[in-house]
Amino acid sequence: MARKSPLFTAKSPAISPSFFAIFLMSLLSLTSPAVSGHDYADALHKSILFFEGQRSGKLPPDQRVRWRGDSALHDGATAGVDLTGGYYDAGDNVKFGFPMAFTATLLSWSVIDFGRSMGGEVRNAVRAVRWAAEYLLKATATPGVVYVQVGDPYSDHNCWERPEDMDTLRTVYKIDWSHPGSDVAGETAAALAAASIVFRSRDPAFSHLLLDRAVKVFEFADKHRGAYSASLSHAVCPFYCDVNGYQDELLWGAAWLHKASRRREYREYIVKNEVVLRAGETINEFGWDNKHAGINVLISKEVLMGKADDLRSFQNNADDFICSILPGISHPQVQYSPGGLIFKAGGSNMQHVTSLSFLLLAYSNYLSHSNHIVPCGDRSASPALLKRLAKRQVDYILGDNPMRMSYMVGYGERYPQRIHHRGSSLPSVRAHPAHIGCKAGSRYYLSPNPNPNVLVGAVVGGPNSSDSFPDSRPFFQESEPTTYINAPLVGLLGYFSAHP
Ligand SMILES: *[C@@H]1O[C@H](CO)[C@@H](O)[C@H](O)[C@H]1NC(C)=O
Repeated sequence: MARKSPLFTAKSPAISPSFFAIFLMSLLSLTSPAVSGHDYADALHKSILFFEGQRSGKLPPDQRVRWRGDSALHDGATAGVDLTGGYYDAGDNVKFGFPMAFTATLLSWSVIDFGRSMGGEVRNAVRAVRWAAEYLLKATATPGVVYVQVGDPYSDHNCWERPEDMDTLRTVYKIDWSHPGSDVAGETAAALAAASIVFRSRDPAFSHLLLDRAVKVFEFADKHRGAYSASLSHAVCPFYCDVNGYQDELLWGAAWLHKASRRREYREYIVKNEVVLRAGETINEFGWDNKHAGINVLISKEVLMGKADDLRSFQNNADDFICSILPGISHPQVQYSPGGLIFKAGGSNMQHVTSLSFLLLAYSNYLSHSNHIVPCGDRSASPALLKRLAKRQVDYILGDNPMRMSYMVGYGERYPQRIHHRGSSLPSVRAHPAHIGCKAGSRYYLSPNPNPNVLVGAVVGGPNSSDSFPDSRPFFQESEPTTYINAPLVGLLGYFSAHP
C-alpha cells in the first residue's frame, strides 16, 4: 500500500461541533454587495451538470460534459462482480459508497420536495439520481453483502491522474454479516428508498426494484449491527470514517422506508428505537456522517400534517435544531463569518452551508403548509424568515460575499479557477489522448495556471471563517468540490428558480 502523500491528501474526516458564541445583530441586516437578483435557473442547470463531470464508468451518448471520457471500466472485476458506474466523490477517483449514498438520498430529497419548481431541469436532476441508483443496485445485488468502496484511497491519493488513465489499485471493499456496517448499509437503504419515490410515477418498475432492495438492505443493516469504520477501518478511515456511529443511519433508513412504503412496521421501528438510537448523540447536525437533524425535519413533515402524533418529539427536536442555527442565538450550533456565511470548523465548509440551508428551506415549506412557526425562547422564527436565511446562504455562494466571487465554477464573472480536482486540472483526454502517469500529473497540480477543463457547476469547499479564499489546488479544504455539497443545493436552486 502506498504511503499517503501529504501533497494529495483529500478531504478531512468528520467535523466536531463548534460552539463559538458569536452574537450577530441580524444576518439579514448585513450589507451585502450590490448584486441584485441571481439567475437561479442558470445556477440550477449548472449544479446538475456537475454530476456528469463526476461520472465513473461508461459514459452514455447523451453525456453533455464532453471533456470527460469512459473510466474505471473494470471496477468490481477482482471480486467477480460488476461495480462500474456511480460517482467519484470529489476531486479524486475513489468511489466511496457512504458519501455516494448520502448524495443520492439528498439529490432524491431535492427532487421530491422541489422537483416541481425545476421546470425542464427536473429531467436532468432525475437522471443524476438514476446514475447513482443504478450503481447502488449493483452494489447491493448479492443478498447479505454491500460493496461499499472501489479504489484503494492511499494508492489513489498518492497520484494526480485523470480517471481515464487510472492505474492505481481498484481494490473492492465490502461489508457482510461478519463484517457489519449499519452506517453505510442504513444510508444505502435510505438512498434506495428515497430514489424509489423519485421514480414512483416516472418509472414504476424501476421504483419497485429500488424499494424492494431498500427493504432488504435495511433488514441486513439492522440485523447485523456494527460500524463499517470498525470492519474496514484501514480503507475508510480517516476518509469517510463514521465517527458519529451507525445509530442515526438506522433511524434515517427507517424514516425513508416509511415515507416510501407507508408500511406500519417502519413507523413502529422508529417509535420503538427512537430513544435507544438517539442516545448520547449530537442531534443538531446534518451531513454524510450525522443524519439527526435531517431525520427530525423529515419526520416532522408528517407530524405537522397531523398524521403522526406519536412522533411529536421529532418536531420538538427539529424546532430546537432550527433555533440553534439562527443568527443571534446565544449558544449557536454554527458560527457565521463576518460576511454572513454559515461556518463550521473542520474543512469543506460548503457541505454544511448547503445541507443546513436545505433543511431550513424544507422545514419552512412544511411549516407554511401547516400554518406553523418555530418557537425559539422569547423569539420565534416564521417560515418566511427560514426561507430568507436559506436564500442568503445561496446568494453568498453565487457571489454576494466579500470576495465578490461565485463559489460555483462556471457561474458568474469570477469563480474558482484552480479547483482541487484531478480531471479538471489535467488536460482532457480529448486534447491529450496519451497516458499521463501517476507522478507525471504533479506538474499540473503544482502549476499556477487555471484548470484547463471547466467543471461547470462544481461548488468548492469555500472560503475560510474570515471569508477569504485562496483559489489554490493544495488548499483542498477550500478548493475541492464534492457531490454532497451539490446534492442539497440542487433542491435549493430548484426552489429559488421558481420563487426568486
Ligand atoms: C483566512 O485566509 C486569509 C488569507 O489567506 C488569512 O489572512 C486569514 O488569517 C484566514 N483566516 C482564518 C480565520 O484562518
